[in-house]
Amino acid sequence: MKVLVTGGAGYIGSHTSLCLLEAGHEVVVIDNLSNSQVKSLERVQQLAGSNIAFRKVDLLDERAVETVIGQSGGDAVIHFAGLKAVGESVEKPLKYYQNNVVGTLNLLHAMDRAGIRTLVFSSSATVYGASEEVPLTEKAPMDATNPYGRTKEQIEDILCDLSSADRRWSIALLRYFNPVGAHESGLIGEDPSGVPNNLLPFVAQVAVGRHERVLVYGNDYPTPDGTGVRDYIHVMDLAAGHLAALDFLKSKVGTFRWNLGTGRGSSVLEVIRAFADAAGRQIPYEFAPRRPGDAAVSYADPSSALADLGWSARRNLAQMCEDQWRWQRDNPLGYGESN
Ligand code: UD1
Repeated sequence: MKVLVTGGAGYIGSHTSLCLLEAGHEVVVIDNLSNSQVKSLERVQQLAGSNIAFRKVDLLDERAVETVIGQSGGDAVIHFAGLKAVGESVEKPLKYYQNNVVGTLNLLHAMDRAGIRTLVFSSSATVYGASEEVPLTEKAPMDATNPYGRTKEQIEDILCDLSSADRRWSIALLRYFNPVGAHESGLIGEDPSGVPNNLLPFVAQVAVGRHERVLVYGNDYPTPDGTGVRDYIHVMDLAAGHLAALDFLKSKVGTFRWNLGTGRGSSVLEVIRAFADAAGRQIPYEFAPRRPGDAAVSYADPSSALADLGWSARRNLAQMCEDQWRWQRDNPLGYGESN
């Protein structure tokens, strides 16, 4: 299959592109490199031993999107491209709605004109908002609590409306829980710009001395050790979920949604301990007040993905930390100044 991957140079996009190449698919990456680097794609090609076609295009450039999709052709699109910083989305909501929602509309118009109507969309468990009715099933209502989350919600709605109106579309909405880890080679991984907001990349940077300690946001939650519980999922398991969804869509029309998580929650302290074990070094931390907007507990019921796609996450927290550590150790400054 020929698969167009928007945002393919980013964290989840690069790992998924690698899995696509390894499964024998042809890959065209469309990325504006606003939060990623082509170096990730060079590494993917090195690992796969095959080539990716790369097109530097911004999804807000409607004509360029139409041209690149029309010229590339292809059988399906996996759409990762989007802005994802929760805090920034609260400060600059218009930027988020413009980039994520309008960018997606441009993509959909171009796909329709090119006759490509199979799409896997990168959604997020963030659409469940502060719901703590765990485990979360796909039936839980969408109730995002910030503009970033609402862009995911709105795009999901747009895609549902589209496939209801035109039965030629086959669409998968993949709701990721907390993606972490890296490819086991340590050659590709997450390269957050600035100080990371998410737990694992921050812990990894503490391990290499880029920060003194982890601030643990809240130790008075109603959880076994008082710290927040999340469903961390290895990025390679997540990538495999995209291939399973693509395969499913070959014989189905309509919109389908699946949680991609492990179904197991880990607390902040468990993560810090697992990372310290993986890295063989201390991870200093101190307790700090709760971070506004954080839920106490969130983890998936991933049984629909197992039933429909035959997919389940295989890697445990120790493997997530080992792989994240290898990437961080070998590339302390990300792709910018790799060893
Ligand atoms: C965050 C986003 C969510 C996004 C997800 C992607 C918010 C409110 N939500 O979710 O929209 O889809 O990332 O992975 O930002 N923690 C600390 N210290 C830190 C960082 C985090 O204690 O320095 C704690 C948090 O309080 C939380 C857990 O670690 O309990 C995980 O945090 P994080 O990695 O930011 O993920 P989420 O909050 O689940």
